[in-house]
Amino acid sequence: MKEIYIKDLENLIGKEVDLYGWVETRRDHGKIIFIDLKDSTGTIQTVAGPWLGEIYSLVEKLRPEWVVKFSGIVKERPDNMKNDKILLGNLEFEIKNIEILGESNTHPFDVYGDGKDIGEEIRMTKRYLDLKRPRMKDNLKKRALLFKFIRDYLYKQEFLEIDTPYLTKSTPEGARDFLVPSRLGKGLFYALPQSPQQYKQMLMVSQVEKYFQLVRCFRDEDPRGDRQPEFTQLDIEVSFKTEEQIIDLTEKMIKEVVENLYPEKHFTQYPFPRIDYTEAMEKYGSDKPDIRKNKDDPNELGFAFIVNFPMFEWHEKQYNEEAKYGAVHHPFTKIKFDEGITIEDKVKMINDKTDELRAYQYDVALNGYEVAGGSLRETNARILEAVFEKLGNNVDDFRNQFSHYIEMFGFGVPPHGGIAFGFDRLLMVLQNEESIREVIPFPKTGDNRDLMINAPSNVSEKQLKELNIKISN
Ligand code: AMO
Repeated sequence: MKEIYIKDLENLIGKEVDLYGWVETRRDHGKIIFIDLKDSTGTIQTVAGPWLGEIYSLVEKLRPEWVVKFSGIVKERPDNMKNDKILLGNLEFEIKNIEILGESNTHPFDVYGDGKDIGEEIRMTKRYLDLKRPRMKDNLKKRALLFKFIRDYLYKQEFLEIDTPYLTKSTPEGARDFLVPSRLGKGLFYALPQSPQQYKQMLMVSQVEKYFQLVRCFRDEDPRGDRQPEFTQLDIEVSFKTEEQIIDLTEKMIKEVVENLYPEKHFTQYPFPRIDYTEAMEKYGSDKPDIRKNKDDPNELGFAFIVNFPMFEWHEKQYNEEAKYGAVHHPFTKIKFDEGITIEDKVKMINDKTDELRAYQYDVALNGYEVAGGSLRETNARILEAVFEKLGNNVDDFRNQFSHYIEMFGFGVPPHGGIAFGFDRLLMVLQNEESIREVIPFPKTGDNRDLMINAPSNVSEKQLKELNIKISN
């Protein structure tokens, strides 16, 4: 069917062609009707008149968003009709024949404005229409360009892109897991990954050295403006690098991203400041400070690395959890100990000096958001065991649940560390959007539902039976 896209018409003046697309607007000027025809690449003004004979009555029927095929001739507009403010404003298309391929109901909301005054519920319910909006199109395009740029950049730096499973096992990233019942293993469950943390560390033992992945992560927490139950990470892990080397490679990548995809933007400070956690808390009252000089400037990017985080934090009792220690980053993070002390001394410090211990953890703050977090990893099983115990786990449970992980430390594990960006959150700030939902094609609402497809939803008795699941009231 379609061979010609509207953006290419510039080179086809005088030619007879077929155009496929949608009616954007229709203006009647007496006998002459102007129809702006759009496709995914652009819009062209088309003209229909009495020369169409009986086909003219079809043109009169056309309404916005109807799907059509127009056959006709690409023409240069008369000089006094040219509009150099719009793309293809020098052209018009003289319709010779039309075919209606699909009619359209009136849209429940306008799709040409920025949509900020339209209720989110209705936008989400008809997300496939909302994505027509030029602002949303731009977000989709930038999302694709950011994926591609990062991928190309890391390939050039000889990182290996490796995908890891989504049906996996619970990993302690701090949030609640989404569970998937296993049909073959009755009563058993997979967990959707909160991040590929354990897999990427295992890949370091597999001698990969430089890994990355653009990966979906799943966390069953209450969504917020900058948080979604499923989101995308740019996940990185490297061997034999210091904290400063990992920070450095992150900083260079961000600089390239901004220079290439957002040349209109500038950094508050480059190289990005390294701010000690304590200083961030004292000076800004936040571990994700907004360091911008001018918060009204949409083109200012205040990136900062926050370093030297505490390893543990005290969590007050909440929901059905007792009050206990939590890991500020995650339990695999390497603690900063003085050089030369023994493993047993380290274990003792985890128990006696819990609140004083600092970790090789580095977060990236951007305009007041945490856009990335990473750390060097502990590779000594005895220390990990002590950390897990401090976090309120039973040692035997830990040994059971992490036997694969502890075991791998016996097979030539290199010193390693990594970082993960919240891809959507980063994109949200770069696009000057106030909600992460604006940069995710099909996001969930505030109560974790997909209103368009209606998920979550009931499943059949047969499906439940197969999984050996009974719903209690
Ligand atoms: P962390 O848990 O800090 O680290 O996550 C990394 C980054 O992911 C983003 N993020 C989210 N974005 C949207 N919705 C969410 N629910 C959400 N949760 C997190 C944040 C955050 O900084 N495995 C480690 C990384 C590592 O140690 O290498 C991890 O996942 O921007």
